[in-house]
Amino acid sequence: MKDVIDLDYDLAAELIEDIKDDPMGDWFDLPDGTSPEELENIKRVAKRVQETSDFLVVIGIGGSYLGTRAIYEALDLGSSETKCKLLFAGNSMNSRELKKVLKTLENRDFSLNVVSKSGTTLEPAIAFRILKKALIDKYGEAEAKKRIITTTDPEYGALHDEAKANDYETFEIPLGVGGRYSVLSPVGLFPLACAGANIDKLLEGAKHCKDNQLGENLEESMLVSYAFSRFYLYDECGCDTEVLASFEPSLLYFNEWWKQLFGESEGKNGQGIFPASVIYSTDLHSMGQYMQDGRRNIFETFLKFSPEKNPLTVPKEKEAKDGLGYLEGKTLAEISEKALEATLKAHDSGGISTFVIEVNDPEAENGISELTLGFLIFFFEAACAISSLLHGVDPFDQPGVEKYKKEMSRLLGKE
Ligand code: PA5
Repeated sequence: MKDVIDLDYDLAAELIEDIKDDPMGDWFDLPDGTSPEELENIKRVAKRVQETSDFLVVIGIGGSYLGTRAIYEALDLGSSETKCKLLFAGNSMNSRELKKVLKTLENRDFSLNVVSKSGTTLEPAIAFRILKKALIDKYGEAEAKKRIITTTDPEYGALHDEAKANDYETFEIPLGVGGRYSVLSPVGLFPLACAGANIDKLLEGAKHCKDNQLGENLEESMLVSYAFSRFYLYDECGCDTEVLASFEPSLLYFNEWWKQLFGESEGKNGQGIFPASVIYSTDLHSMGQYMQDGRRNIFETFLKFSPEKNPLTVPKEKEAKDGLGYLEGKTLAEISEKALEATLKAHDSGGISTFVIEVNDPEAENGISELTLGFLIFFFEAACAISSLLHGVDPFDQPGVEKYKKEMSRLLGKE
């Protein structure tokens, strides 16, 4: 792709400077700008939560929720025996979902981490009220206060004011960091530390991406090439849909995070590439037909990790009647690798442009690690910001979302 498009590296350098200078561009500094004191503080509070709670309920929506969940699920932290597990609430207005959370918390110790930059978003605010009542009913007012940790704006908002009035433990979301670019701030770092993630490695992965992809040599940058190429496919080739694909079921919520990042950043003024996602091979049996033969307005971005170290193997059978003799002794990782190769080949013959973003962590048990996820998070955040500027839109606002919020408040009778 790099050879086909006329990639303007001077423009790329200019856009990167514009992003850094933007009042909402402070996420650019998160990989290496979080002070050791702040990291220590996050770990200190996380340790306390681990010692006192079986569950931490993370209450938030959109950018105040999806990044944390993406990493939690991708690393499969929920199956860890020793650490505090996360539950998620306040990401919908659905009563049944919240009842499930309350049921799980029955007879268990828990704390709450309510995350909202504005401090006024309705879904988390309602869930917080309900869960706070459950917390007070269980522990009494004084102990409940110690079990509430807020992550919010350093200066304004209802949540900020309530936290101050009640002396809740509070983490600040830097003023110049918007929701969908905030996972590497206390928004994601604190709950992930509670769940046992190595947050230093997460930041290290992001820093590795920043230094290697946006340092001196932009000509070598896969990130810049990806950002410009996807815009080229949209602008010149009519590809208005990008599908993020992987053979990793644990990336389901990573896909959701990615869709929010691009959807909310680029989808403005009648512009933007529609972000969609699939998990193969599952979705080869549902979306595979469309991908191969449907409208040719799509391109596909594959994520590839180094293979799992101890994968399952297809066992031998004495009298193999299932026709799988040719696979005996092969690992599922090897089979999956071939499935990826086959899919790339088939989709190429079907006229789909594909990117493959390969990230390796040789030490990781199954390729997906804090290091690789940190890298990918910064990779997509930066690519998204560059790409939004190429579209001529502001990567950091979301006027469309505000419109529905206002309308809903009016219908619900807010003054
Ligand atoms: O990316 C964004 O800014 C949004 O998705 C917000 O994160 C989301 O609307 C939640 O907002 P808040 O953190 O203010 O509750």
